[in-house]
Amino acid sequence: MTERRQRSALQEHLVFLGRFLRNPRQVGALAPSSRTLARAMVAHLTLTSESRVVELGPGTGVFTREVIDRLPEGGKFLAVDINAHFCRELRVRWPALDCECGSAAELSAMLSSRGWSHVDHIISGLPFASLPAQLSRDILAAIQATLGPGGTFTTFQYIHAYPTPPAVAFRRDMATRFGSVATRRAVFANVPPAFVLSWRQQVRST
Ligand SMILES: C[S@@+](CC[C@H](N)C(=O)[O-])C[C@H]1O[C@@H](n2cnc3c(N)ncnc32)[C@H](O)[C@@H]1O
Repeated sequence: MTERRQRSALQEHLVFLGRFLRNPRQVGALAPSSRTLARAMVAHLTLTSESRVVELGPGTGVFTREVIDRLPEGGKFLAVDINAHFCRELRVRWPALDCECGSAAELSAMLSSRGWSHVDHIISGLPFASLPAQLSRDILAAIQATLGPGGTFTTFQYIHAYPTPPAVAFRRDMATRFGSVATRRAVFANVPPAFVLSWRQQVRST
């Protein structure tokens, strides 16, 4: 996929900070994630020309770029962000990117309108720690409903916040939903350092 415009790192940080100041709970971070964190978010994904990938909360596109670079031709990729400014920026940068401006809670309807029966991989930069609890539950239900058997859901939590009750509760909820604990990888080259967490949808035996 052709990339039309890449802002400088400073421009990207300023755009991000501006959006954070307008809506701190929805944007949830002062700065975009690092390239190292972005690579760790996708390193474990098996991407083929058959893969269907969704990114929730792409923001300025740090993770988006890594997916685009790795997804073989024929693979399908949908990016979903609720912030119209970020969506516009992403569409300018990658005119061929399928970017939907809306809430991740509406993921099932977004997939139906594209004729997708399921997703193989969902990566998320959503700020679950600062989103309203009911919205988080709705988004997690949508993720669970749309991931195909063996599909993966990958997100990150900041290491300093990892032991806090909301972060622990999130992981406990996810372990219940997916029937297993997450694989975990630490990334120190990010401000702040983070754990990449990934769950796999169970393959149900018939
Ligand atoms: C912490 S930023 C992450 C941006 C980028 N992935 C990164 O790591 O640099 C969170 C992103 O989630 C988006 N977001 C927040 N709530 C959302 C929702 N309900 N549905 C879709 N996107 C949402 C925000 O607009 C923002 O782009």
